[in-house]
Amino acid sequence: MFFDDVKSRRSVRTFDGKGLTAEVIEDLENYSKTTTNPYNIPITYTFLDAKEHGLSSPVLSGERCYVTAKIKKEKNADVAYGYSFEDFLMYAVSKNLGTVWIGGTMPRDKFEKASNLAEDEIMPCISPLGVPAEKMGVKEVLMRKGVKADSRFDFSDLFFKDSFDTPLSENDAKNIGIYSALEAVRFAPSAVNKQPWRAVVTESAIHFFEKKDRGYDNGVYDLQKVDVGIAMYHFERECKENGVNVSFTLSNPNISLPENTEYIASYTLV
Ligand SMILES: Cc1cc2nc3c(=O)[nH]c(=O)nc-3n(C[C@H](O)[C@H](O)[C@H](O)COP(=O)(O)O)c2cc1C
Repeated sequence: MFFDDVKSRRSVRTFDGKGLTAEVIEDLENYSKTTTNPYNIPITYTFLDAKEHGLSSPVLSGERCYVTAKIKKEKNADVAYGYSFEDFLMYAVSKNLGTVWIGGTMPRDKFEKASNLAEDEIMPCISPLGVPAEKMGVKEVLMRKGVKADSRFDFSDLFFKDSFDTPLSENDAKNIGIYSALEAVRFAPSAVNKQPWRAVVTESAIHFFEKKDRGYDNGVYDLQKVDVGIAMYHFERECKENGVNVSFTLSNPNISLPENTEYIASYTLV
């Protein structure tokens, strides 16, 4: 079940050192071709052998294979990117593989070159793919402590009713059938565990917003928009699993916004 995978998933940075079989990689490659996003922006994946391309990351150990993802530069490409790449990474998680979104702690030039990144494309992130080691490395344990990786904001800090003034109660969310979908958002991964996604729920729609922190938008793409795309994937997938019909739409409700908050997209309840 998707929700169980969301709850049990964690970023994996220590791998068993054995790599993946050609069969497993082929299955992942096949799945990668099926990922889509609500903006209909195509995304392409490259599977890279660490040794062959001389690739590594200072936060990882024991990984032998990476996946990188590229998307055409255009409006909302970063949101679309988060949505599609998370679809792929959650598939890997469902196969008991370890993954971690990496947008900063890597030699970016090398990964971009190995992926043949073109001028009109962006490649915000990569992930290792492999079997998790039995024990986390010391570096990994420290890193998780540093970003409080095991904690998340409370439901009432993230989700609101009609405006940003009133928190959405868990009961209200249950009544409209979106409680576990919002919980799937709450447990999603995000850059430096900043959890920048917010949602305002009205009678007919769930509106997603980005609460921006400094230092994540480089003018070409915004890693926190990637985070919101990840959250939207979790939301939509969990709604689907529960038979709750939602439809993606861009319809800014024009409500008054807290500081540094930007409208991203909505789902109407159908
Ligand atoms: C867009 C994005 C970029 C990230 N970049 C990095 C990174 O550069 N290095 C890293 O070690 N972890 C990175 N992470 C992983 C987060 O630190 C991690 O998801 C967060 O701390 C929550 O921990 P969890 O995934 O184990 O639940 C990134 C996550 C996301 C979503």
